[in-house]
Amino acid sequence: MKERLQTLKQEALDQVNSASDQRALQDVKVYYLGKKGQITDVLKGMGKLSKEERPVVGQLANEVRDEITEAIETKQQTLEKQAIEKQLQEEAVDVTLPGKPSQIGGSHLLMSVIRDIEDLFTSMGYQVAEGPEVETDYYNFEALNLPKGHPARDMQDSFYITEELLMRTHTSPVQARTMNKHEGKGPVKIICPGKVYRRDTDDATHSHQFTQIEGLYVDENIRMSDLKGTLNVLAKHLFGEDREIRLRPSFFPFTEPSVEMDISCKVCGGDGCSVCKKTGWIEILGAGLVHPNVLEMAGFDSNKYSGFAFGMGPERIAMLKYGIEDIRHFYTNDVRFLKQFHRV
Ligand code: DAH
Repeated sequence: MKERLQTLKQEALDQVNSASDQRALQDVKVYYLGKKGQITDVLKGMGKLSKEERPVVGQLANEVRDEITEAIETKQQTLEKQAIEKQLQEEAVDVTLPGKPSQIGGSHLLMSVIRDIEDLFTSMGYQVAEGPEVETDYYNFEALNLPKGHPARDMQDSFYITEELLMRTHTSPVQARTMNKHEGKGPVKIICPGKVYRRDTDDATHSHQFTQIEGLYVDENIRMSDLKGTLNVLAKHLFGEDREIRLRPSFFPFTEPSVEMDISCKVCGGDGCSVCKKTGWIEILGAGLVHPNVLEMAGFDSNKYSGFAFGMGPERIAMLKYGIEDIRHFYTNDVRFLKQFHRV
């Protein structure tokens, strides 16, 4: 029995030693010291021993039990310490590591230019109107006094979907659509931003898809001077108080008279340079007084009502304002280009 106790002790101490976690240690404890454990088993067999042997074996059994208990407790403490250290290590935060920079987005330059123009016009009582990009032949051409056979209606210039449907070539159809909704009653005072499409080959100054902003003001007694005053405010807002504007006669089927607006060249101050092609002036937009046919087709009495309209290209405005030399920069979306204008 003594030998069995010695063997058990050795075995138990070895197992305590090699227990790698608390669970394994608990198993060892149960196996040797539990109610049905090995040591208890030895103690239960004591009855069979002689009177002399009993106290000796009893004492040894107690010693062995105490030793194993102590070994388990010591090991328990070691394991707990190790667990805490491991947790501390895993949760360690290196406060000296550099932070991860977060990417902050921003508006696309074209969006910023469009919003700026929208804000200006809404502050003058205009409303923002929109229309479909897939447009009918009627609204894109007919309702704008563009007769059949007009060069702009050519298959070569427009993306047709069917005989009657095409990708709108300008934002002017929104004029006709909005006037229709007003059922012959003024005022109609709108600004219409949106995408337009043309069958152009992309290069530094052409794109098959670009943006436009249309303006329309129809009411009683709207005159050329109202148009000129409004465009003057726009030009100075966009390019600076020191800019002059001039209106040149032009032709658009939907306006009569029609004009083109130029602004004075800032680069040369009007003397003539490469930016203004030696003229001292830079062309910005087309405009005019709404053609009576356009008013009538949209249900407005042209004897009572008159109006002005204008159309401009945000790309061109942004290019002039920020010295951007290629229209394709707006659409290739290189973040190094876009980022420069996030705070515009
Ligand atoms: N729709 C014309 C274009 O795409 C621009 C334009 C010119 C719009 C004169 C107008 C206008 O409203 O009055 O070139």
